[in-house]
Amino acid sequence: MGNVTDMLRLAYAMRNNAYAPYSKYRVGAAILTDDGQLIGGCNVENASYGLCNCAERTAIFSAVALGMKRLRAVAVATEDGGSPCGACRQVIWEFAPDDGAVPVYLIDRTGEVVRETTIAELLPYGFRLRP
Ligand code: THU
Repeated sequence: MGNVTDMLRLAYAMRNNAYAPYSKYRVGAAILTDDGQLIGGCNVENASYGLCNCAERTAIFSAVALGMKRLRAVAVATEDGGSPCGACRQVIWEFAPDDGAVPVYLIDRTGEVVRETTIAELLPYGFRLRP
């Protein structure tokens, strides 16, 4: 269980677990679920480059495996406050409420939040198939 402050700290700490020997671009992510669970992730690279997995998707897929249904908030920590790639935006969107009102916090090397946006803003007209 956690809050937004805990999520920001976890995303920053998760950079230490990144497995990024090829790009050297360490990414940490953390998500807060709608029922208050806090789950972290990091990027996991592979010598077969196409198999690299982003930090955001590592966190979200772990969360789904733990029973997560909906996201409340997402945080991503990188060297330069980089924002989620297109694939991760679509995966965040999948677990967002219909209006896409999931805050996305971007953190840089200092641990500061350099941008606060939402998945609706990052992925306008996102694709949905609601079961
Ligand atoms: N990466 C992420 O973890 N998240 C993103 O949204 C963009 C890129 C990772 C993938 C790869 O390990 C490294 O950053 C460089 O692309």
